[in-house]
Amino acid sequence: MQQSDMDRCNAQYGRPGRVEFSLDVHGQARVELRFKDSTLMVYLQGAHVTACQLGADAALLWTSQSANYQPGKAIRGGIPLCWPWFGAHPSRPDHPQHGYARTSGFDVINSDFEDDFTGIQLRLVLATPELSEWHADGDIELTVTLRLSDALWLQLDTHNRSTATMPVSLALHSYFNVGDVAQISMPGLAGLGYIDKLRAGERRQQMAPLVINEAIDRIYLDPPQSIEIHDPVLNRRVQVRSWGNTELVVWNPGAEGARAMIDFDDAGYVEMVCVEPAIASDNRVLLVPGATLTVGQEITSTQLVSDVG
Ligand code: BG6
Repeated sequence: MQQSDMDRCNAQYGRPGRVEFSLDVHGQARVELRFKDSTLMVYLQGAHVTACQLGADAALLWTSQSANYQPGKAIRGGIPLCWPWFGAHPSRPDHPQHGYARTSGFDVINSDFEDDFTGIQLRLVLATPELSEWHADGDIELTVTLRLSDALWLQLDTHNRSTATMPVSLALHSYFNVGDVAQISMPGLAGLGYIDKLRAGERRQQMAPLVINEAIDRIYLDPPQSIEIHDPVLNRRVQVRSWGNTELVVWNPGAEGARAMIDFDDAGYVEMVCVEPAIASDNRVLLVPGATLTVGQEITSTQLVSDVG
């Protein structure tokens, strides 16, 4: 992308102080949204949220200091969108992990400057050749709607514009910033069944609120609509309310896993946890021609212990 592309985006969709497009130092296009004291940074590659500040709260999301911002590489942190499949492709090992969205350029299709939020809408269209293993004619379209207020609201609408039924799995792969991962807890997961990806896909049950003391990679089944991350170090309760998803993935690579990834800070695993509203591969939605699949999340943050009283 060139500066002239950013000038065009600013002329058509921007507004100073609310929606501003720019290039980063690597020449990657991004848009910054503001609403009162809240800010949101979104890269057009992947419609990828890389930073979010809700009012005076600590940073909501974690992004690796070693993240790779080169075109065609997924950015480590923020909210990568896994689409149109989550994890490994079910039948084609040569296809990229977590699908094409996070490494594809999105088009801007709308912006909003309302009294109660600032918003932007981005779109990706994948044509048949890229999806040929599904034997479809036509394309599949992803519209990403982002709204910033004192909450972060994000929705994915997948439209099947082809002639064939398409299986879709996905995840809103949100990396939350935490004070110390060993001190957080997630009470809302107690009682849920899960698939443990680090134990050969064994099915287990979460007996108590989740506490994380080691690497974790789990797919929680039939999660409640809303779950919370209690963080005593940052003294906050982050609430993730989601819709359209059938699972919730929780991931932290642990010390060894972090060291093994070139784009993950060695000590970064202490400061993050991924909580991802998802439709996991085993539960793929068979999207018939003309149908739309909607999955979204709203994230808010409140004090865990109030200073008052
Ligand atoms: C999680 C998966 O959602 O993403 C993990 O459950 C995976 O298995 C992790 O390791 C990170 O994936 P990637 O492709 O961004 O390194």
